[in-house]
Amino acid sequence: MTDHPKLLVVKDLRTTFATPSGPLPAVGGVSFELGTNETLGIVGESGSGKTVLSRTIMGLQPRRNVEVTGSVLLKGFEVVGASEKEKRSIWGLEVAMIFQDPMTSLNPVMRIGKQIDEILRVRQGMDRRAAKARAVELLELVGIPSPAERYGVFPRELSGGMRQRVVIATALAGSPQLLMADEPTTGLDVTIQAQILNLLDSVKEQMKMSVVLVTHDLGVVATRTSRIIVMYAGRIVEIGSTREVFRRHRMPYTRALLDAIPKVSNPSHSRLVAIPGRPPNLLDLPTGCAFAPRCAYATDICRVQRPRLEPAEESGHAFACWNPLPVAEGALT
Ligand SMILES: Nc1ncnc2c1ncn2[C@@H]1O[C@H](COP(=O)(O)OP(=O)(O)O)[C@@H](O)[C@H]1O
Ligand SMILES: [Mg+2]
Repeated sequence: MTDHPKLLVVKDLRTTFATPSGPLPAVGGVSFELGTNETLGIVGESGSGKTVLSRTIMGLQPRRNVEVTGSVLLKGFEVVGASEKEKRSIWGLEVAMIFQDPMTSLNPVMRIGKQIDEILRVRQGMDRRAAKARAVELLELVGIPSPAERYGVFPRELSGGMRQRVVIATALAGSPQLLMADEPTTGLDVTIQAQILNLLDSVKEQMKMSVVLVTHDLGVVATRTSRIIVMYAGRIVEIGSTREVFRRHRMPYTRALLDAIPKVSNPSHSRLVAIPGRPPNLLDLPTGCAFAPRCAYATDICRVQRPRLEPAEESGHAFACWNPLPVAEGALT
């Protein structure tokens, strides 16, 4: 593969599921780029298309009842339309993905060390001894205590946090340049969450990877990403540097997401805060802005014409909104 200044270039990506009730556009035309050694956050409420987008970028879709159009260039490799065989050449080696539930990524009946081993032998062509030594090294890297002894345990013998560490070690086995992490800490308690996120930060530095951190919780990406994509109804509605998105966001939906960040003072209670109104029905999206029915600032134009994602400044900050919040109002106090 040739050397590309941009690790990932996504252009007008669309993922549409054929459902009994009609076509469901889960990803409705997404474009963005990602450089090397960058951490990008993808945020949005549940159902906004984050997981489908991530899986489409990886080339992981159900075989049937789905149509993908547009382009995903990963180091110059076109993922859209590639065969399983071609995609297997990048999975694990160029790009790896970790999911919310570690049990879906781990084989419950295989010792954890062997699972890492297998990747090293099959994908990296290591011999048995080298693979075992490297597997123990990776377990140590992700903070598993006594890695040589833990090598032989089964996933069920570990806590949720430890299992997610093993999943990260598995993802790192192929030395990927891009790690996609879909809600990697959702469901873990707050302390373990921070530990796993810190671990991702440190392995990113050590392995010189780019990381895409997908989460419904803007609090998670606040200090750990350089750029943020905000998704609603399968589209990007705001994109910018993390600083811009937090301090000068213009899209009322972004503000609503920020208001929904669990407060440290009362995390369990405030986690219940949701954005008022009903999430959009993707089978019957409104003609105008998909957020308009829930938006306090919506006017007539919002209901009839969909706003485009317009770059506001040279900084790359862009938002799709007819009635953006004034900059001063968008600033967090
Ligand atoms: N295999 C599928 N078939 C039909 N619809 C799907 C499928 N997978 C996801 N969806 C729909 O796509 C939308 C986006 O889902 P998802 O990407 O999982 O959201 P998020 O990760 O942001 O919570 C949802 O409306 C979901 O119901
Ligand atoms: Mg999801």
